[in-house]
Amino acid sequence: MSKRTLITSALPYANGPIHLGHLAGAYLPADLYTRYLRLRGRDVLHICGSDEHGVPITIAAEKEGITPQQVVDKFHTMNKQVFEQFGIDFDYYGRTSSATHKETSQAFFKTLHDQGLFKKKTEEQLYDDDASMFLPDRYVKGECPKCGHPEAYGDQCEKCGSSLSPTELINPISAISGKTPILKKTEHWYLPLGDFQQKLEKWVDSRENWKANVAGQCKSWLKSGLEDRAVTRDLTWGVPVPLPDAAGKVLYVWFDAPIGYISATKEWAEKRGEPDLWKTYWQDEETDLIHFIGKDNIVFHCIMFPAMLMQHGDYVLPKNVPANEFLNLEGRKLSTSKGWAVWLDEYMEEFEPDLLRYVLGTTLPETKDSDFSWKDFQARINGELADILGNFVFRATSFTQRFFDGAVPKPESLSEADKKALHEIDVQKKQIETAYDNFRFREAIAETMNLARAGNRYFTETEPWKTRKEAPQKCANTLYVCAQICGALSLLFHPVMPRKMNLLREQLGIPANTTWDQINDHLVPAGYLLSDEPILFNKIEDDVVDREIEKLKKKAAEAKTEESSYPPLKETATFDDFMSLDLRAGKILKAEKVKKSKKLLKITVDVGFEKRTILSGISEFFEPDEITGQTVVVVANLAPKKMMGIESNGMILMGENSDGVLHFVSTSAEPGSPVT
Ligand code: MF3
Ligand code: ZN
Repeated sequence: MSKRTLITSALPYANGPIHLGHLAGAYLPADLYTRYLRLRGRDVLHICGSDEHGVPITIAAEKEGITPQQVVDKFHTMNKQVFEQFGIDFDYYGRTSSATHKETSQAFFKTLHDQGLFKKKTEEQLYDDDASMFLPDRYVKGECPKCGHPEAYGDQCEKCGSSLSPTELINPISAISGKTPILKKTEHWYLPLGDFQQKLEKWVDSRENWKANVAGQCKSWLKSGLEDRAVTRDLTWGVPVPLPDAAGKVLYVWFDAPIGYISATKEWAEKRGEPDLWKTYWQDEETDLIHFIGKDNIVFHCIMFPAMLMQHGDYVLPKNVPANEFLNLEGRKLSTSKGWAVWLDEYMEEFEPDLLRYVLGTTLPETKDSDFSWKDFQARINGELADILGNFVFRATSFTQRFFDGAVPKPESLSEADKKALHEIDVQKKQIETAYDNFRFREAIAETMNLARAGNRYFTETEPWKTRKEAPQKCANTLYVCAQICGALSLLFHPVMPRKMNLLREQLGIPANTTWDQINDHLVPAGYLLSDEPILFNKIEDDVVDREIEKLKKKAAEAKTEESSYPPLKETATFDDFMSLDLRAGKILKAEKVKKSKKLLKITVDVGFEKRTILSGISEFFEPDEITGQTVVVVANLAPKKMMGIESNGMILMGENSDGVLHFVSTSAEPGSPVT
């Protein structure tokens, strides 16, 4: 075992508040591990902070009509505070807009540059002439070449999920000016990741005890071959590239952000008054560096950052990267833009942190995506925290209060059952330890709850309410044993529910500095006077969680209305273009479904001077009967077109809502009248 552990949690972008998905991915597991190691008396440092650069920040700024600095100031302050309130125990929460970070990341870049590492390449990129700027992928919109979605982004189509490059888009437009961008030459510095291929392969293979999901992703990246990656960008928001020939360029956010772990450690050391202490954590081989992240960050922490660290040479490399998969919400993919998320600050307006720490801990997406639901939240609090843990502690301590004046009784000639129950403490402790050591936190929590289960069972089976009169020493033994189990639980559950377990520990008179190694079967001495039992857990009623589900649905509905966007305007039509269309009022005489077609209705329309057949793709929205008799607007001089073997003569005008629902354009003019 190494001398010390440096734990990092992914720096969240300071462009929005923290939600349950963030917590389940990185912050809760990192905190469980940190608290566990602290209890074990290990030298551990937990570092995090705000990721304040990159396009996610500038996009948020534009959306809210404020500056990027205002965005990061707002969310840095908010997120730092909400983590604190939730009991995420960072030693330091930094930010990548700090002076230390600028200096540290520039020096890092400069070192690699002076080693001759980077390749400088000239390439053509999309440029907005009106805004005089190169366009980041997210700032280019256009038609998806794969599915035809008109609003695809330069890096991805959100409709079909394809990942794209901006030059693939059909009719690309700049999201800034709405104009068509041009191609323009620009120079960038590239990290030649391919040169690291063998070193990285060897390094990944040498990692012990990596999770299958993480090792698997690394190997598949390596297998497909590593390519050069640009580490600079043409942007104004970010850390300026520290080279004379790089005016207007900044470091790529995924180059500077991980260095943020180092800068934050420097600031922590500075604040402690030992400015060189950061070196012990980053440069001494006796450090275990552990990165907690979500799965979308794996390639950056297992390939790119390690390559940078290897090349630099002064730093330790990660020992493990126990990345989690994703958390779904009520069976649906979590999405902040669709309003499908539970925000941590909102959660804490209603409930205590420890409840969510427990429930989320039991549902962490450790090996595959998992689901959080409010009903499950309620079921676990009522069925596990209240009925098992809370009930056991309450039975044991209130019985001692009532019948032994609150003093833990003295044990004498323990029975086999008593000894076995005491032994459970040791058995469970070992299981819990192994689980934590291997980043299996769900299992650690389940095994801890199993000790409370065992305690409950033991209490029921030894029947102290009977032995109290028939065999008082037996009753005393039961309560002594139960007090020991409660004592052990107060420490074993501490990483998960620090506040609740502090209350319990204090009630039992166990000193705050008790370590994991000191957890044993005689933590609470006979004769110790219990203080009044705290109410640890209250049950949650149906209407309380129903309200949360309603809230979620309401937010999703609101997001939908806000989001409904209008399709871009088509190219300008001349007056003559317009006049060439002959629009007429037409009365629907008859409509019927076209056989074998899901969408088409065959409609007979009276256009005054004649009756026509028009095919219209509206069958999903209208029953044939409900549309007969309406007078609508018809494009009367459209070239005939054959569909499903039937000739269509004209088109009926429709209005289409953002949700795809169709409405007729109606008129009260006589059939055949021109519409102008
Ligand atoms: N901001 C990134 C995200 O939320 C994570 C950055 S982790 C760091 O996905 F290593 F780059 F800091
Ligand atoms: Zn698409």
